[in-house]
Parts: sequence; structure tokens; C-alpha cells
Amino acid sequence: MNLNFPDYIKSKKVKKWILEIADLTKPQDVHFCDGSQEEYDKLCESLVQSGTFKKLNPEKRPNSYLALSDPEDVARVEDRTFICSRRKSDAGPTNNWINPNEMKERLNKLFDGCMEGRTMYVIPFSMGPLGSPIAQIGIEISDSAYVAANMRIMTRMGKEVYEYLDTDGEFVPCVHSVGAPLKKGQQDVSWPCNKDNKYIVHYPEERSIWSFGSGYGGNALLGKKCFALRIASNMARDEGWLAEHMLILGVESPEGKKTYVAGAFPSACGKTNFAMLIPPKAFEGWKITTVGDDIAWIKPGQDGKLYAINPEAGFFGVAPGTSYATNPNAMESIKENTIFTNVALTPEGDVWWEEMTKEPPPELTDWRGNKWTPDSDKPAAHPNARFTAPARQCPSIDEKWEDPAGVPISAFIFGGRRSETVPLVFQAVNWNFGVYMAATMGSETTAAAAGAVGKVRRDPMAMLPFLGYHMADYFNHWLQFGRVNPYHPRMFFVNWFRKDVNGKFIWPGFGENMRVLKWVVDRVNGYAHALESPLGWMPRYDDIQWDGLESFSQKQFNDLMTINRENWKEEVMSHDELFVGKLYDKLPKEFIHMRELLMSSLWRSPKKWGLEPEDIPT
Ligand code: GTP
Ligand code: SPV
Ligand code: MN
Repeated sequence: MNLNFPDYIKSKKVKKWILEIADLTKPQDVHFCDGSQEEYDKLCESLVQSGTFKKLNPEKRPNSYLALSDPEDVARVEDRTFICSRRKSDAGPTNNWINPNEMKERLNKLFDGCMEGRTMYVIPFSMGPLGSPIAQIGIEISDSAYVAANMRIMTRMGKEVYEYLDTDGEFVPCVHSVGAPLKKGQQDVSWPCNKDNKYIVHYPEERSIWSFGSGYGGNALLGKKCFALRIASNMARDEGWLAEHMLILGVESPEGKKTYVAGAFPSACGKTNFAMLIPPKAFEGWKITTVGDDIAWIKPGQDGKLYAINPEAGFFGVAPGTSYATNPNAMESIKENTIFTNVALTPEGDVWWEEMTKEPPPELTDWRGNKWTPDSDKPAAHPNARFTAPARQCPSIDEKWEDPAGVPISAFIFGGRRSETVPLVFQAVNWNFGVYMAATMGSETTAAAAGAVGKVRRDPMAMLPFLGYHMADYFNHWLQFGRVNPYHPRMFFVNWFRKDVNGKFIWPGFGENMRVLKWVVDRVNGYAHALESPLGWMPRYDDIQWDGLESFSQKQFNDLMTINRENWKEEVMSHDELFVGKLYDKLPKEFIHMRELLMSSLWRSPKKWGLEPEDIPT
């Protein structure tokens, strides 16, 4: 293929690679993305033309669009995601693995001519502020205009990126195709994808990514999970830092003291909500600021503290459940310049999803494009419907969110979705125990990935679907990280999702999570009391600030905090599924001892949290 490269692409290596991909995929034409607003508007216009986008009513939702995906292309496909390291043992038992040579043969066949009849977009992007020493550069080649438009919101995308590449500059090559070539005269569909073949493939040694067959989120926006987590976790292991599935937020006290924390929660378990939290009225003078809602790159600074940056530039957030009652900052962030995927459409040309308003509108077009009324038995929006919005539109965005140096992290908070067993909050006694508890974290599966929903699985550090190497090597990396970084953050564990006997959440959650966060921050700064428990340090009822929520009784709190011995013995036994069943050969030796210590302390845990010492069983 003959390509007219724009002047600003100087790197021979980049040109050679683009030519190679064009020769393989044989697109009808090639578009070099420059990242301008004009280009974005044209991309959106072409998506409206092709039927992928519907332009929303500019009076209700300026410069915003709705995309309805193919009903079978609605979430990440974990069983089609591969870590193709040279050795199988480097991918580990929690990842799918195929020999890289074999995978390349397979993919070469699939990618051969796969862009026929389509435009190939060349999308240069930076993860992290452009030119920052911690930022990383990637170029995604994709035959999806939807991907190009989303990448402009989610990353720093544009021609400036090439200036940071010298002639043999490093970048992560990312190749993406929806896997739906268009023969001459063939009519396109509104959401092209490949129903039979999906492959999300990572070559960790080469640091390259190939994705085929899906146009959706984490499968197709390759800067996000594929690069910033799976490939970056490999870089982080080699270079002594962390690439984590974590939100980053700042807590400002009335006295003006700022404390930053990072939090790992599995997909659709509340990172976006927590990152944008608005404290209850009674917390006058307290302010939460948002640095990121999904990914954190964390590196030791000169002063020995750990500094985190958010490598992304936008939010790809879960829409259902988002409302002015649960997350006003998210609602403000998506007022304009937003792409919505798989939500419902109102007759006025605006969007709606479950729980967005108290009363559902009388009539809607649902995410499948069908007529919907409140009597319909299916949800109007897909449970994994998402919005793509620029982070700078978030009212709570932190003043340092683009600081190349990052923000200093004082605490890590880990939180799974657990209907039972796991208490509202506890603090690990030390780093090693924290790593153990984070490594054995369980969570009920959500609609963010294709497959069963609501099943408890071990999701270490919320990274099970996102780690690009062997899980046990990752545990060792965390332990080692604590040894070489003495000023590491304190480690906390939360569960917003415990349910009562009627299946209702006990904890009100959302803004009320501030009460837990305040205890965390006070612990970090040395102001808060705690009681020793078998799991670690826990607040008593009186250690939490209840102003404005006095109706939440001590009894309810105790229910939330109870460590049921029998449940916990089972829980600890289930750690073995991961340890002995899967990770045995590389499991850190420390974990075996910590498991025994945990069992030992559980033996004497009280039946109910908050009971007097004489009630503690002997
Ligand atoms: P990814 O973007 O998939 O990585 O997920 P996320 O962790 O950012 O998820 P998000 O914050 O969008 O969580 C969405 C789901 O969590 C919705 O169903 C919310 O209603 C629910 N949720 C968030 N915070 C709370 C909370 O404090 N309590 C309860 N009960 N549910 C919550
Ligand atoms: C997640 O599933 O954790 C997400 C959404 O953040 S996606 O980008 O689709 O992976
Ligand atoms: Mn995520």
C-alpha cells in the first residue's frame, strides 16, 4: 500500500509499522488522527451517517451521542483475553495463554484483509500527561470510528504525541479491528463486530496488543485495560512500580489538610462513585477531590513516598445506578460532550437508565432499540451501559489531576462486593497482612464482564482480569514493594454491599461512605481509635462520626461489622482454591504463615462485633 504520511510523523519505525499493518489489513483508506475538535466533530458526524451514533437533543445534552451496540458485544470478554508470554509459566494459571508464535499465525489469518472496505484510523495517544516522565506513548490502529472518538476522550490523543518520539522512539503498538470486512456493495451494520471470533491478545515481552472482533470498551479502547493495566503491569514489575485497577481521590479536612488515597474495587463495584463522593451535609468543611476513577500508576518518589498518576483523561463509567442522588459529580460530568453506549433514549432525545430518576419516564426506546415502558420486564439500559466523558468536566476534579509528579498516596482501600461475611471496614495490621488480605479478596461478579453475574470469585487486588503476568509473581512484587518502600501507605478493606436477611443493603453507601473514609484518613493521620479484631483494626460505633445519620443504630453497625467465625473459617479455607489449587509453585512462602495466623486469631473471635469481653466465647 502507498501511504501519504503527514509531515509530523517523522519516526521511520512508526511509518514502517503503520505500513505493515495497512498491508496486512488492506483498508479502503487511512486516516491519521490529529486530535483536533474539528476532527472529533467529523468523526461523530460520520458515525451518525453510518447509524452507529444518534445525536442527542443539543438542548438537553449538548454535543453528545448515543451508540447502541450489537446485543452480543456489551462487555469485556475474559475467556477471549490472552497473555501470550513466551513461557506459559509467565502468564500463570489465572490467564489464558497460547504460544505467541501460534497466536501470531492465528491472528495473521484473521487480520489478513479484515479492514477491507473500511477506514483505518491511526490514533496516537499518551497515557498520562504528555511529556511527563511517567507517561507512556501508544499508537492504536483501528477500523472503528467509534474507537477513535472514544480514545480522544479517554486518552491524550493527538499529533503532538509524535513529537515525543525520536527516530527510534518507544511506543506500544496496538492493533484493533472489529473483524467485519465489507465486501464491495455490502451494506454496513450500525455496530460491526465478529460474533464467531474474538481475541484480546497481549504480548508482554514485545509490549504489543492485538484485538479482534469486538468494538466494546475494554476490548477495543486499547489504552485502557490492555495497555494501562495488562502491559503496564509488566513494565511495573520490571521497573519497581505498580499499575493498578484503582481510583485516586483526595480528602481535604476543614483545617485544609489534604490526604490522598487510592482504592481497588472490581469492575462495577463503586470506584467511580467513591472517587466523586460528596460528603453528607454534617461534614461541613470536608471536601473530596477526584484524580482518577479506574486506573492508578504508582511510583516511589525521591522522598520515599509513593506518588500516583491517573493515566487516563476521561471516565468510561457505568451508567445504571448513576443519579443526582447517588453521584451528582458524575451527573455533572456527563452533561455535555459525552458518548453514551447502551443506555435508553427518551422521546425528547435525551438519555435514561435505571435509577437515574425516581420515576421512570412513561416511554422510552431501550438499549436494543425497542419500545419500552415501566411495565416492561427487561431493563431499559443494559446493566453494563457506559458513558464516556472528559475528566476535566468533573466538578470535583483535583487541582493536581494532571500534575506529572502525581499525588502522594497515604492509604490503599480494597473493596469487594460481598453480600455476607466481609465487614464494613477494617485496617490490616501491617503491609504483609494487607497484601495477604488484598490477594485473597473475593467479590461477586458483575455485568462488566460477559458471563455469570453474582458469583463470588477470588479477585486479587481487583486485578484478576487485568494482570498481564503470573498472579503469584504479582503477590511477590507487592511484598517486595513493601520491603523496598518503607513509607508505604496503610492498608484498609471495605465492603459497601453486605445485605440483611431480607436481601437489602445494610449500609446506605454512596455519600455516606464518607463516614468510613473519614475514619480511614483519621487512622492514617493518627487521630482515630480502633479495636483489635481477628482481621485487623476496626472502628467501634463511637469511632465513626454519625452526625446526620443518627438513625443508623449501634445494632445495625454491629451487624455490619460482625466477623462470623464459621463463615470466616470457610472463607480462609477457600483461599486455598487459589493458593494450593492454582498458584502453589510460585506462592510467596509468607502467605502460608499468614494464613495460619489468621486461622489462629479467628478461633477466638467474638460472635458479635461490639459485645462486651465476657460475651466473647472461650
Ligand atoms: P468499572 O468502571 O467497571 O471498573 O467500575 P467502577 O468500580 O468504577 O464502578 P461504579 O462506581 O460505576 O459502580 C457501579 C455500581 O456500583 C452501581 O451498580 C452502583 O449503584 C454501585 N455502587 C456504587 N457505590 C455504591 C455504594 O456505596 N453502595 C452500594 N450499595 N452500591 C454502590
Ligand atoms: C471494567 O470493566 O473494569 C471497566 C470497563 O473499567 S472496561 O473498559 O470495559 O473494561
Ligand atoms: Mn475498571
